[in-house]
Amino acid sequence: MSQSMVAKHSMWPRQKDIIFNLSERAQRAEKSIGKDNVINATIGALMDDYGTLITMDTVYNEYKSLDNKDISAYASLEGQPDYLEAVKKVCFKEYMPDGYIKAVASPGGSGAIKLATWNYTEEGDQILTSDWFWSPYVSITEETGRKVSTYQLFDENNNFNFNSFKKEFLNIASKQERIFTILNTPAHNPTGYSVSDDEWDKIIGLSKEVATNQDKKIILFVDIAYIDFASDDNASRKFFKKFSNLPENILVIVGFSMSKGFTAYGMRMGAAICITASENVAEEFYYGCVHSCRANWSNCNRGAMKLLSNIVQDEEKFEKYTQEKTLYKEMLKRRAKVFVEEAEKVGLDILPYRDGFFVSIPCDNPREVCEELTKDNLYLVPLKAGLRFAVCAVNENKCKVSPSIIKNALQYIKNQKVVEKN
Ligand SMILES: Cc1ncc(COP(=O)(O)O)c(C=O)c1O
Repeated sequence: MSQSMVAKHSMWPRQKDIIFNLSERAQRAEKSIGKDNVINATIGALMDDYGTLITMDTVYNEYKSLDNKDISAYASLEGQPDYLEAVKKVCFKEYMPDGYIKAVASPGGSGAIKLATWNYTEEGDQILTSDWFWSPYVSITEETGRKVSTYQLFDENNNFNFNSFKKEFLNIASKQERIFTILNTPAHNPTGYSVSDDEWDKIIGLSKEVATNQDKKIILFVDIAYIDFASDDNASRKFFKKFSNLPENILVIVGFSMSKGFTAYGMRMGAAICITASENVAEEFYYGCVHSCRANWSNCNRGAMKLLSNIVQDEEKFEKYTQEKTLYKEMLKRRAKVFVEEAEKVGLDILPYRDGFFVSIPCDNPREVCEELTKDNLYLVPLKAGLRFAVCAVNENKCKVSPSIIKNALQYIKNQKVVEKN
């Protein structure tokens, strides 16, 4: 065996990220046969109809007008005070819950997940999320010895599977002091599902039941990375009010991100926001998270913070930004609508899509199907139990033709398997 230097806990399988791999292949294909002839549905960012990254003018004009010192100087560990106020304002809008609310800056929503999972679970704990989930939840949590366990997101009728949620939630509650759940809603990655207000009532009802046992600590982490591309900016925020006045042993932490809502993916700016009925719990949250900031990345991107504060605290700028964002949201809606309608027409089964960047197609042998699709110059992402198609990155015409191409590839692989069996 050749020399190995890395510590045991850092020995990970040497795999290239499958998403980046397929994305690279798609880009190579675009170069050799032209963008018009390739459908690149691998990218998790908003692209225009010609496949170029969308960067909002209202965001980048503001950024470029900043004084150098506002970009260059160190920021406070917890985030600049005006940024933390702006984050609360833009996150909750008219639906600020009652209670103690504290925000701590983080590098993107990913940083917020790290802050929350590290500070609110013990080593060896299971963290609950749905079986369709954003895979970095595993990387972020397994790095520190936590394990992700899952409930089934959908039942056989493609409705939110509350029974499965309840079963797994209670199962963890029977074994652990802390029940930490990640809910990525609205506009879930990868399915595009959004938990409805009624479903939220059930989740909160169950949490309250378990919370009658004072020894249990329930943490609901709400990953809202895509909230700004969910239906109506206000309607999609109503559920925040439900987090008012919860028992003191239920803590809600919202993972805020500037990546999608402000097309600021590479700026790495976000926040973890806690909502609690207890002043002490809020203070503890703040000090725990600030300690982690210092220990992991020190302070965050000051220019990005200033940019958000300037836009959010100025009515006119915010209005212009909202108008620009709305145009892109409408574009996304049109693309998704075409895809969903066409899927129905050609009989391609997809998971229930409500909002957001992605549509998922459940299937067997996802990797083989993806490989087969590359022959048609269609690139998408294989998941454990299906495929992820990024409507955010593909124009309407391409969204229209894709379902039948995917349907054919699925059929082809299915037939192949039958032949192999016989
Ligand atoms: C479900 C989900 N949560 C969180 C994030 C966090 O993104 P960032 O760290 O760029 O804010 C992403 C980004 O793709 C995501 O898809």
